Amino acid sequence: MQEVWTQVDNYFGDRLSPAEDMLEAALLANERAGLPPIDVTRLQGKFLEFMVRISGARCILEIGTLGGYSTIWLARALPGDGRIVSLELDPRHAEVARANLENAGVLDSVDLIVGPALDTLPTLKDCASAPFDLIFIDADKKGYPEYLRWALKFSRPGTVIVADNVVRDGKVVDPECADPNVLGVRRFTEMLAVEPRLTATVLQTVGTKGYDGFALAVVLR
Ligand code: SAH
Ligand code: DHB
Ligand code: MG
Repeated sequence: MQEVWTQVDNYFGDRLSPAEDMLEAALLANERAGLPPIDVTRLQGKFLEFMVRISGARCILEIGTLGGYSTIWLARALPGDGRIVSLELDPRHAEVARANLENAGVLDSVDLIVGPALDTLPTLKDCASAPFDLIFIDADKKGYPEYLRWALKFSRPGTVIVADNVVRDGKVVDPECADPNVLGVRRFTEMLAVEPRLTATVLQTVGTKGYDGFALAVVLR
């Protein structure tokens, strides 16, 4: 099925989100710098843009920048005075991201913070951008439960939380799978289930990057 998923991704992508030099350049720069090709896809980038627009977000928190491909999609959908705080562990990734964001003309609206997210998240308590209107969780999957805890701290009623890669080829339901990332996603899901401040759903996805899914939650109170 992968071949069909890729063709269909290209079919809709080419029509609804035609290739843009600046975005292609970011992916090329990532590749040249040896970053893993695990950015969101083009149509998923468009999905993130969509979430920003329908939520009317002005302040965004992203956990897991990589080369900034998703950051560019998020940033471009913001109003002029909008801001993104993006957290990245690896200084090499952050350096590539900075150049990509600059090239995309959005660096001015991004605060790129380098370090393990669990160390940098506590420093956001005095951040002028918090509480955030939209939070995109896309760093190490074993950290998702803790990232959700922090996301709730930096939320207000109406905040939208999007988390990438919660399906991972269906590994999430494989009882044999003891991968800490999968266990992280399961604990994250249990937290979504019992947290009275949240209502959540999951959108399974297929496409160029295979079979995966987004968790979507909104803060009620
Ligand atoms: N959002 C990006 C992809 C992120 S890939 C996009 O779609 O374009 C995941 C990123 O999370 C990697 O760059 C990785 O270095 C980073 N990461 C992993 N562990 C982390 C941690 N503990 N804190 C912050 N970032 C982390
Ligand atoms: C991986 C991470 C991601 O954020 C992603 O979208 C795909 C894969 C990974 O760590 O393998
Ligand atoms: Mg991801």
